[in-house]
Order: sequence, then C-alpha cells, then structure tokens
Amino acid sequence: MKILLTGSKGQLGTDFQLVSEDRHQVVGYDLDLDITDRGAVQRRVADVAPDLVVNAAAFTDVDGAESDEIACYRVNALGAQNLALGCLEAGIPLLHVSTDFVFNGEGESPYTEFDRPDPRGVYGKSKYAGECYVTGLLNRYYICRTSWLFGVGGSNFAKTMLEAGRERNSVRVVDDQEGSPTYSRDLARKILEIIEGGSYGTYHLSNSGSCTWNEFTRVIFEMAGINTPVLPVSTAELGRPAPRPRYSVMRGLALEMQGIEPMRHYREAVREFILRDLPDWEKRGEQS
Ligand SMILES: NC(=O)c1ccc[n+]([C@@H]2O[C@H](COP(=O)([O-])OP(=O)(O)OC[C@H]3O[C@@H](n4cnc5c(N)ncnc54)[C@H](OP(=O)(O)O)[C@@H]3O)[C@@H](O)[C@H]2O)c1
Repeated sequence: MKILLTGSKGQLGTDFQLVSEDRHQVVGYDLDLDITDRGAVQRRVADVAPDLVVNAAAFTDVDGAESDEIACYRVNALGAQNLALGCLEAGIPLLHVSTDFVFNGEGESPYTEFDRPDPRGVYGKSKYAGECYVTGLLNRYYICRTSWLFGVGGSNFAKTMLEAGRERNSVRVVDDQEGSPTYSRDLARKILEIIEGGSYGTYHLSNSGSCTWNEFTRVIFEMAGINTPVLPVSTAELGRPAPRPRYSVMRGLALEMQGIEPMRHYREAVREFILRDLPDWEKRGEQS
C-alpha cells in the first residue's frame, strides 16, 4: 500500500514510519506539507497518489492552545478538513488520529467509541472538530483516539520525568487525573493492523491498564532504576491553563467487537521503551 503520512517527525509519525517500512511505501511529510494549506494538501495528494492518508500531524500543546485558539483550530480542525477534502477528491480513505481529551472526564468507567464526546479545553474541542469534519466529509475513514503518548521521537512526559528524576531531589506529580499511558510504537503497530484489516470506523487505541500521572512516574522510575521520591500534587495546586479530564480511560470496544487483540499493558511498553528503545545517551540522561 502507498501511504501519505503527515506529522512524520512527531512521536507517532516517527514510529509509524519505522514499523511500516518493510510492509508499505510510506511517503512522509511534516512542516514541509502544511496541512492548514488546502491547495498544498490537494496538490500533494494528487501528486503522490496514495492509497490512504494517515494524519499524525497536530497542534499538541494543550496549555498553549488556551492562549492561541486560532493556531490550534487551524491545525487540528481545518487541517483535518483539508485532508478529508483531499481524500474525498482522490477517492481514498483517511486515518485521522484523535485523543481521549474529546471526553469531559467526569465518567467513572472507561469510555467506549459509542460514548458521547464532550470536550472541555480548546485542544479537546479542536480535535473533536477535526473528527467531525472527517466523519462528515468521508464515508471511508478511521478515527483512532489515543492517550498520554510517549515515544522515542520528540519530547514527552516520560522523557521529561527521566530527566527530572536524575536532576532533582524529588518530583511533584499530579495524582488526581487517571488515564492510560500509550507507547507511540505500540500505537503505530496497532494502527497498521487496523489499516490492513480494512474495517472503517472509530477506534480507541491505548495501552492496557490505567494510572495517575504520579503512578506513571513511579513506573518510569522503577524501570529506569531511579530512586527519586515522587510526591503528590493536585491539579488545582498545579494551576495549569488548560482543563484536563479527571478520568479519561478508554475501552477499545471496536477492537473487542472484531476480536482484535488489545494493546499490551503500559508497564510492558514502558519497560521496552526505557530498557531497549531509548538511545543510550538518553538512557543515561545525557544531552544530545
Ligand atoms: N501527545 C499526546 O500525549 C497525545 C495524546 C492523545 C492524542 N494525541 C494525538 O496523537 C497524534 C500524534 O501526536 P504526537 O504526540 O505524535 O504529536 P507530535 O509529536 O506533536 O507531532 C505532531 C507533528 O505535526 C507537526 N505539525 C504541526 N503543525 C503542522 C502543520 N500545520 N502541518 C504539518 N505538520 C504539522 C508537528 O511539527 P512541530 O512539532 O514543529 O509543531 C509535529 O512534527 C495527534 O493527533 C495528537 O493529537 C497525542
């Protein structure tokens, strides 16, 4: 299959290229294909003539989105619309990546693909707007919602904590938000499996298990052999600009319905990420 990938230098984009290289022809673009430029998107889709577009490009600065609403909507909503229009014109499907932040976080049990989105902050609203454009414009689409991504490419919470744990005497991490950490390489593999299966629709794709950010940090430290104390702090105390869902655990009901294996437990993924996949200099906490 020939796949046009956007956001190729991001966490997911990097791993998607890695896991697909032996099986598909992936033509990746990052800022060299600005998805907010409709004409550029349409021309590139026509030139590359892919069988499928995978959109891993996004505005992912959740706090920054609160002060730069237009920039965030342009990438996450308008960008998704442009890609959907490009795919419509070319007669091909689109795989669009979305987020657990489409839910309000007030639930008590895992959200399924059939639960009603009700995003709160700008980032979540912009991602949901992107989903709506895709589902409204195309008959053949995959929406893959994921959560709490960490990976080798790009910066993320796990890398920040590894660095903080080595440099500080203690770290304070929120203990009142629950979700599912997800390794971008596992996500990329599952996305590939879904594409190859060809069943369109919405999917919840996160590593199994759930925890708070505080518990996640403890697992990261455990795997890395870091003994720095992890202290609790509340979301309110931290006072970040964007609202965060208190509970955003998702259930992969679409996978269950089709008898597709769920993604492995996040602890296994963290172990592999730290002990096998991170480059040695990052394992040792050195600067590149
Ligand atoms: N990160 C998470 O915790 C998380 C959680 C749930 C869902 N998701 C979703 O998962 C997907 C992948 O996330 P990720 O963490 O891999 O993202 P990421 O590392 O931030 O990568 C996104 C890439 O898109 C690029 N990009 C930004 N604006 C663009 C534009 N106008 N045109 C083309 N490319 C553009 C970014 O470039 P710059 O870096 O230069 O801006 C970056 O290389 C996104 O849809 C995201 O919403 C992420």
